[in-house]
Amino acid sequence: MKPPGLTTNQRIARAWALLAVLGLLLWLTQHARGAESEVTVSIAPRFRGEPLVFDQLRCTNTAGQALTVTRLDMLLSGVAVRRANGSWLEKHHWYAFISAREGRTNFVLRGLPAGDYDRLRFNIGVPTEQNHASPAQWDAAHPLNPQVNGLHWNWQGGYVFLALEGKWALPPRFAGEREGFGGERVNPLSTGLAETGLSHPSPALGGSAGVQPAGTGTPPNRRLDTGAPQAGFSWHLATDRQLMTVDVPVTLAVSSAPATVRLDFDLATVFGELTLDRDTLSTHSREGDELADWLRGNVERAFAVSRAGGLQPPLVGRGVPAAPPNDSGSRVAGGGVGTPRPTNIIGTPYRFTYAAHFPKPALPLDNPLTVEGVELGRRLFNDPLLSRGEKQSCASCHQMDGGTVDAGKAFSLGVDGLEGKRNAMPLYNLAWKSEFFWDGRAKSLRQQALMPIQDELEMHETLPNVVAKLKAASAKTPPRSSRREEAPTSQSAIGNRQSAINQSLLTSADTSYGEMFARTFGTPEITAERVGLALEQFLITVTSFDSKFDRVLRGEAKFTVEEQRGFELFHTEFDPRRGQFGADCFHCHGGPLFQNVAFANNGLDREPKDLGRFLVTGRDGDKGKFSVPSLRNVELTAPYMHDGRHRTLEEAVFHYVRNVQRSDTLDPNLAKHPPGGVRIPPQDLHALVAFLKTLTDESLRPATRRAASAPSP
Ligand code: HEC
Ligand code: HEC
Repeated sequence: MKPPGLTTNQRIARAWALLAVLGLLLWLTQHARGAESEVTVSIAPRFRGEPLVFDQLRCTNTAGQALTVTRLDMLLSGVAVRRANGSWLEKHHWYAFISAREGRTNFVLRGLPAGDYDRLRFNIGVPTEQNHASPAQWDAAHPLNPQVNGLHWNWQGGYVFLALEGKWALPPRFAGEREGFGGERVNPLSTGLAETGLSHPSPALGGSAGVQPAGTGTPPNRRLDTGAPQAGFSWHLATDRQLMTVDVPVTLAVSSAPATVRLDFDLATVFGELTLDRDTLSTHSREGDELADWLRGNVERAFAVSRAGGLQPPLVGRGVPAAPPNDSGSRVAGGGVGTPRPTNIIGTPYRFTYAAHFPKPALPLDNPLTVEGVELGRRLFNDPLLSRGEKQSCASCHQMDGGTVDAGKAFSLGVDGLEGKRNAMPLYNLAWKSEFFWDGRAKSLRQQALMPIQDELEMHETLPNVVAKLKAASAKTPPRSSRREEAPTSQSAIGNRQSAINQSLLTSADTSYGEMFARTFGTPEITAERVGLALEQFLITVTSFDSKFDRVLRGEAKFTVEEQRGFELFHTEFDPRRGQFGADCFHCHGGPLFQNVAFANNGLDREPKDLGRFLVTGRDGDKGKFSVPSLRNVELTAPYMHDGRHRTLEEAVFHYVRNVQRSDTLDPNLAKHPPGGVRIPPQDLHALVAFLKTLTDESLRPATRRAASAPSP
């Protein structure tokens, strides 16, 4: 039987019903989305209620000492809020990174059910399980990625939960003291904190005895510069024992409207009654360290909610032009991650490989690596067409077959024969950096790569000229004899790990630029932007992670006794109170990249001629700070420092032992040492150098020397 047909009215009624249901669904989804709550919690560092001013000696502790904070970083986990009925709601697998001086003061809680909450709780630190898991597992933007937070200790194991560093003014009467600074006031901690001479098991791979006191014992009797009498303190609260819990009352009504909670963190409570002196200027939370335990309690008490409610701008220290707050934790490496544009990958995906113990890098999403793009970048890198008068290529100053620097030169000569102002930097493992040049003025590699081309002390060319020359070159493929590529460098061992695949896919030397641009970008159009993108691709692929050190890590090689000693010195703090007499290098050159993502003043000059990072940020606290260089391959990158002032590695290391100059911006991790620097005897200096030489990647050694020197055992 055939069902009776619908009347027109019935059809209309059904259509309306359907529309109504659709409308309801749409409203429901939108409403649900709108109801998603968003609570921004901002941490406002203060000192006795006033906003904390970083970098300037504006705070006075109970002992009357003038002090300042230069770093306040912490890792947070396990956030929870308490409902009015007393039950807790905890966010699992939740982490945040706060870096107050850099303006990263917020975290955002999303998706809290509407309702009233009366307490807010979180941990400062990372629970045991994550603290001991491999940090290489975290995505590039994750708060626990060491590249994001700079708080991972690597070979020591685990994270630093809270890093509080700063400076304090030395009273003039201490200025001439032999150890630099003392202090006759009695500290709440002094009892039981006598120098124990305790030597802790070293964190070394070999796990041998701790680093013993240096043989010399008596430091040279140098006077401190009374014009800049500042010492440093560096407190690192870490280890499972020191996981801190902050639990504060709050009045929080969560609804669909965004809300803010401002948590004051009063550092006066953290400093408490403590007098800063030789015994209290450093802690690394080693077992039985009473200073760490004491600080921990103070930190937990130092938080209080000062405001909860409607949307308010986050507060950061007054007088400090802070970077825009960032709760997502994203770092931009290689640039462009913040503004990804949809890209259909053209060409053959390039397999970017790196050591398993490296953190995950932030590769630019809008410039995916392809074999073709990398090959084009390599060719451009080696092509003098990019310079005025076709006199030099990037490779002229970054010799890929020789440490990727301008061998032996403090300052390179540009096309006009003029000297540059800084020492050429090595170009490996750039995928893990997000700010380039000694002062970090380039925010991406694509941006960076176009700068030397236009720099009048370097390639001194205009971008329109470069584009015109590349177009002209691609119109006629030159005969082999007149080709401009620097053949030997373009075939360097590094950055060319895929060369076998590359060669089978394309033979760049016989291919015109037009074709190479078409294979990379889909059309043969040559633009400056594309030149930058291709160079970025090539630069990212230049990696270095195969050194004797890496083989020791994998259990495939063994350190000599001297190298082992150097390794231990490098990774052990200098903390006489605790009987630790290391060289303390890892604070800045730590982790598998042997560099932290930071700018620091390592005490080269009392009054720096080159203001470094200050030129970019304009912050007084950044004067004389430079990008912390990686110490991988440091054997091959002489001369050293931003101005190439040290000709040998021994000289560069000796700097830290005798020549550290005090100034307002000297890093607290060096300013906490006795005048001049770390006290280590001459044989230990050689041990440090021997260890640094285990960081050499043989593939970067110039071919001639590579052949002569067989890889060490
Ligand atoms: C005349 C020598 C010279 C030439 C040519 C040259 N560079 Fe450099 N390069 C330097 C110097 C010097 C620095 C450090 C400059 C500074 O910090 O102000 C540097 C820094 C860099 C850095 C920053 C690395 C880091 O870790 O931050 C990159 C990347 C780089 N160069 C790539 C290139 C590329 C790509 C080219 C070619 C387009 C090129 N360079 C051409 C001398 C040169
Ligand atoms: C406070 C941070 C800090 C500490 C601690 C530190 N360094 Fe450095 N190091 C730097 C900075 C920053 C530079 C670059 C300075 C410049 O050129 O102005 C540098 C440069 C170097 C260089 C030259 C590298 C090059 O390519 O030019 C060597 C070698 C070096 N450090 C070794 C060490 C050793 C060994 C130790 C331990 C005794 C150590 N550093 C401790 C921050 C630090």
